[in-house]
Amino acid sequence: MRIVMVGAGYVGLVSGACLSQFGHEVICIDKDTRRVRALDAGMIPIYEPGLDEIVVSGIRSKRLSFGSDLGEAVRRAEAIFIAVGTPTRHGDGHADLTHVYEAAHEIAANLDGYAVVVNKSTVPVGTGKEVYDLIRMARPNADFDVASNPEFLREGSAIEDFRRPDRVVVGCESERAREVMREIYRPLYINETPMLFTSRESAELIKYASNALLATKITFINEIADICEKVGADVKDVARGIGLDKRIGPKFLHAGPGFGGSCFPKDTLALLKTSQDHGAPSRIVEAVVNVNENRKCAMAGKIADAFGDLRGKTIAVLGMTFKPNTDDMREAPALTILPALTAMGAHIRAYDPEGMEQARDILDIETCADAYATMVDADGLVILTEWNEFRALNLVRVGELLKRKLIVDLRNIYEPSQMEAYGFSYVSVGRAPSTPAGDVLSRRAVTVAA
Ligand SMILES: NC(=O)c1ccc[n+]([C@@H]2O[C@H](COP(=O)([O-])OP(=O)(O)OC[C@H]3O[C@@H](n4cnc5c(N)ncnc54)[C@H](O)[C@@H]3O)[C@@H](O)[C@H]2O)c1
Repeated sequence: MRIVMVGAGYVGLVSGACLSQFGHEVICIDKDTRRVRALDAGMIPIYEPGLDEIVVSGIRSKRLSFGSDLGEAVRRAEAIFIAVGTPTRHGDGHADLTHVYEAAHEIAANLDGYAVVVNKSTVPVGTGKEVYDLIRMARPNADFDVASNPEFLREGSAIEDFRRPDRVVVGCESERAREVMREIYRPLYINETPMLFTSRESAELIKYASNALLATKITFINEIADICEKVGADVKDVARGIGLDKRIGPKFLHAGPGFGGSCFPKDTLALLKTSQDHGAPSRIVEAVVNVNENRKCAMAGKIADAFGDLRGKTIAVLGMTFKPNTDDMREAPALTILPALTAMGAHIRAYDPEGMEQARDILDIETCADAYATMVDADGLVILTEWNEFRALNLVRVGELLKRKLIVDLRNIYEPSQMEAYGFSYVSVGRAPSTPAGDVLSRRAVTVAA
């Protein structure tokens, strides 16, 4: 099939490249011409493991190409995916649909023969119908359908998620459009991936409800972690005990500094707005949004408590992206925590395997060439993102480099007993802090955390 992907970001580029591997002829259109030029030259503008290989192989097979002229591409297409950003609208928390409408107008102007316009962007319920009405108004005689096909891939494992999804959700109103969608996803269909056909509205809501439920799970375990710290329980044991219940499952039960990223924060907020607009307010989602926002600020306080007065102190920070295996800093906890520490007088020396370029642009920090360089003469270390390379630090070396052997681990990647054995004061999330005998400052952390 001839497919156009509007938007060559995390979702558009991964989906486009994977669909070209399914055998389709895909052109990714992006209005960012620099991005298009880079892609044409085989350079990948985002960090996503494995993406470079499939993009290059797509280009070589001539089934994947890039451009910025939507018109010509749309006229030849059988399916046009919209995969543009839908960030939070400034001021009110609603999803900003400017890019979606813009794309829809351009598509409308160029439709030629039957095509399915497929909305892959995460959009509030009713947007699919709005896009349909908008195109119909502009082109009363055009032959088209509008489908909703929300995307569930996760940054960091996006390609595997796209190729082997738990399900494909398609919301559309006509059998003709369903047939096109079946054809697009035929390789998955053959693999017996569940394909769920629903109304457009249900498909749109499935995406928001999924993200809200996952965000709720994270927020729930974060609150349980706070209780653990007060009562002397270990949140890792508690999470395992909960997660072994098959009705609950072990995923998304890792306590930490609060969820971030380009999806959960904006999608929970947008769902909340939708629920309020329609007179069915969701108290649960409202609580999740508020608890998570407060949590990021509370984490800065937790670090400050462990370090003591931050004025004149240097803090080594490992990890700034919202999770490992991505360069995405959107809504990362680091964006709240690090400025708060700086405001309290700390100097931040940080390293992230893929997020340095973005971090430099938006944070007032000193960046370092590697993990150990952050630690030289620092007053302690903070782990913000659980990149694999931070899980096996040479703890002897860490102890030698730091001025004081203090580690605040907001991802619980180390064991308190191991830290104690290496002589570190260790503060983590939802677990009792550990302190080597005689460390006065770290006793203060223990007292505060308790
Ligand atoms: N990032 C994720 O993990 C993820 C997962 C599932 C769903 N989603 C949803 O997918 C959508 C896209 O997210 P993303 O992270 O890929 O965004 P992104 O910001 O990485 O990419 C969007 C791209 O669209 C381009 N664009 C915007 N308007 C355009 C237009 N009119 N014509 C051509 N190109 C245009 C931008 O230049 C940009 O390159 C969002 O609605 C998001 O919520 C994202």
